[in-house]
Amino acid sequence: MTTRTAARSTLTALALACIATLGHAQQGKLKVGLMLPFSGTYAALGVAIENGFKLRVEEQGGKLGGREIEYIKVDDESDPAKATDNVNKLIKRDNVDVIVGTVHSGVAMAMAKAAKESGTVLIVPNAGADAVTGPMCAQNIFRSSFSNWQPAYAMGEVAAKQGKKTAMTLTWKYAAGDESVAGFKEGFEKGGGKVVKQLTVPFPNVEFQALLTEIAAAKPDAVYSFFAGGGAVKFVKDYAAAGLNKTIPLYGPGFLTDGTLDAQGEAAQGMLTTLHYADGLNTPRDNAFRTAYAKAFKLQPDVYAVQGYDAAQMLAIGLAATKGDISKKAEFASAIEKAKIDSPRGTFTIGKSHNPVQDIYLRKVEGKDNKVVNVAIKGLADPARGCRM
Ligand code: BEZ
Repeated sequence: MTTRTAARSTLTALALACIATLGHAQQGKLKVGLMLPFSGTYAALGVAIENGFKLRVEEQGGKLGGREIEYIKVDDESDPAKATDNVNKLIKRDNVDVIVGTVHSGVAMAMAKAAKESGTVLIVPNAGADAVTGPMCAQNIFRSSFSNWQPAYAMGEVAAKQGKKTAMTLTWKYAAGDESVAGFKEGFEKGGGKVVKQLTVPFPNVEFQALLTEIAAAKPDAVYSFFAGGGAVKFVKDYAAAGLNKTIPLYGPGFLTDGTLDAQGEAAQGMLTTLHYADGLNTPRDNAFRTAYAKAFKLQPDVYAVQGYDAAQMLAIGLAATKGDISKKAEFASAIEKAKIDSPRGTFTIGKSHNPVQDIYLRKVEGKDNKVVNVAIKGLADPARGCRM
């Protein structure tokens, strides 16, 4: 290469670097709509997700894909009736680039519909609604958490392996409760068990007395329940106060005891649950996350914090591949689909329907921990029934 050609290629490289920097500057801040519950029975879950998300962004110097982040927050109150208005405010009024939300399955389904229609990228950091990565699946919709089917199916298998023959279920009556019971029933009945009765209370009611009396009279081998947040605290305490924890084991997806043990205390001791996160994993990745989270928020992290953190990791992966240009939907999606996400829960991948393929742990409550017992099912993928992508 002559001196002149070398100088020319150096200049070209410099020009390209300037254009790239200019590109980022022109893109401006990336607007992230955080649509989460900040009030009601799921308020603590919303806060943990926000904390986890922001922790990861801060670890990246406050930028993802070279762009600073601007947050626009909406309290969705876990109210499906307000969901379409709330999500449309973020999409149409605030012009957000990406939406991160939410906790409640009914609200998440309205968000997925709006995201699908508008093409806005949506990352669901909790809500397990099977439909979001089933019939509603789309190139621009991702989940960093779980489908309702995943931990429930695993618990059904565990209960059957423990020799339980009959189970009653008691859950909130909405998509999360219904789908959780369906997943449990599938795993349990495949293993030879039988779900003999399905009881429900409307969301977010916490009046369980009459139903606990019915369970005590029926004496099934086990009870399976989906509740979370404040409702889970009340239910586990009522179950123990009725003396049922001494005679009929209470199983559930880990939401029944995650982020709730301080309040549940003695009532939760010894309970077995299944989830994609656990205490005591003792991996360098999880230990570093837990130390950083505790330092930043003076709180211990739970599964919701992990899901928020991983939503930011997924967004970072997509933005790195598109140099911050989230409108490049195919490149954005393809980068996430190929990634191995280095999560505190353990490495996971994103399946074709954009739901995590992940290990489901069996956990046992010991003191204030959901201590890992073993991996109940390794690399469990949601069946993604109805997803055509
Ligand atoms: C749900 O509605 O999908 C949900 C809410 C809280 C915890 C887990 C799932």
